[in-house]
Amino acid sequence: MSKLETQPLLALAAEHLYPNYRQPPFVLERGRGCELWDTEGKRYLDLCAGVAVSTLGHAHPAFVAAVADQAARLTHVSNYFFNEPNLRLAGELCRRTGMDRAFFCNSGSEANEALLKLARRHFFARGETARFRVIAFEEAFHGRTLGALAMTGRAKYREGFGPFAGGVTHVPYGDEGAVRAAMGDDVAAIIVEPVQGEGGVFPAPPGFLRALRAIADERGALLLIDEVQTGIARTGKLLGHDHDDVRADAIALAKGLGAGFPIGAMLCREALAPALPPGTHGSTYGGNPLASAVALAVLRAIDDEGLIEAAAEKGAYLSAALARVVAARPGVCASERGRGLLRAIALRPGVDARAVLGRVRDRGVLLTLGGDTALRFSPPLVVTKAELDEGVAVVDSVLAELPS
Ligand SMILES: Cc1ncc(COP(=O)(O)O)c(C=O)c1O
Repeated sequence: MSKLETQPLLALAAEHLYPNYRQPPFVLERGRGCELWDTEGKRYLDLCAGVAVSTLGHAHPAFVAAVADQAARLTHVSNYFFNEPNLRLAGELCRRTGMDRAFFCNSGSEANEALLKLARRHFFARGETARFRVIAFEEAFHGRTLGALAMTGRAKYREGFGPFAGGVTHVPYGDEGAVRAAMGDDVAAIIVEPVQGEGGVFPAPPGFLRALRAIADERGALLLIDEVQTGIARTGKLLGHDHDDVRADAIALAKGLGAGFPIGAMLCREALAPALPPGTHGSTYGGNPLASAVALAVLRAIDDEGLIEAAAEKGAYLSAALARVVAARPGVCASERGRGLLRAIALRPGVDARAVLGRVRDRGVLLTLGGDTALRFSPPLVVTKAELDEGVAVVDSVLAELPS
């Protein structure tokens, strides 16, 4: 049993934590693999991984060793100076992705801000100052900072935060014709997620990313791919758009890259290297030795444990299990969808998905919502099939109790 008392902690939350989240009334204290325990000693099965972040699960020995070893050596020096883990990480990421240059930051929003600034300044530096518009997608999620939010399509995240800087046009995801119609000589870039995760776990339709590549090339614009949720093995390939055999001009990474340690990255092709010369962009903590050493350890663990293949294989296993639930509960479930270990059960309109999520959590399984109606599974990539079975059985038991 924990030595921590829960009630005084919850009182601190009630009195002093900014109330912009909706946490349930328990306090998580420790984790191992896919299991978490709260201060009352209750066990939870973590099938959300901190929203597709903790790919190695909790307290993975390679992660723990990387933090401890690097913290004992060198934590932070700023970008006024090189540091060894960061240079190695830049090399590793470029080698693995086929990109040429890496800029480091601390979150997905910040990586997407870098994409936006990169695209606009690329054309500015070439004298094409009228090329600034970005095509983004309805229901897209690119982050909460104001630049990233301007590209985010989901209305509920945007409401009340305008006016936005402008220069972003949102069109329906998957609609090639709408993209073509929205294009113009003022378009600097198209930005897209390979799977709309926050939007409800919708994979891009077959051929859509390739069509965007073709449109961008025809119109002299850039293709930017937001791999924050899909990148680093989550979908069963290193990058989500590797399924589509398409090459981006620049990509954003975060979440799985640090597997719980905050880090983000913007990777781009050599042609974009002159866009942001010294002094135009930066980030104090970006690529510090500690974050970089952890990301290197994460990439090594992904290799050593075959986690890309594991995400594909266990993703197929989870998909089949979720499809059986959908078939068994047609009154409350509409469909199963996703890619690799980023999957969801879409509930039928009228089913209170948030209430379902709460009941699943009360029975010890942690999931998140995607969109307003999808129960999202984004487990650690080290999850076992037995753990997936356990989680799916709990979800099924909750759905079985709903009126259909
Ligand atoms: C596709 C995508 N882009 C960007 C973000 C924002 O990342 P962060 O919360 O690290 O700023 C997220 C977070 O969920 C995301 O899923």
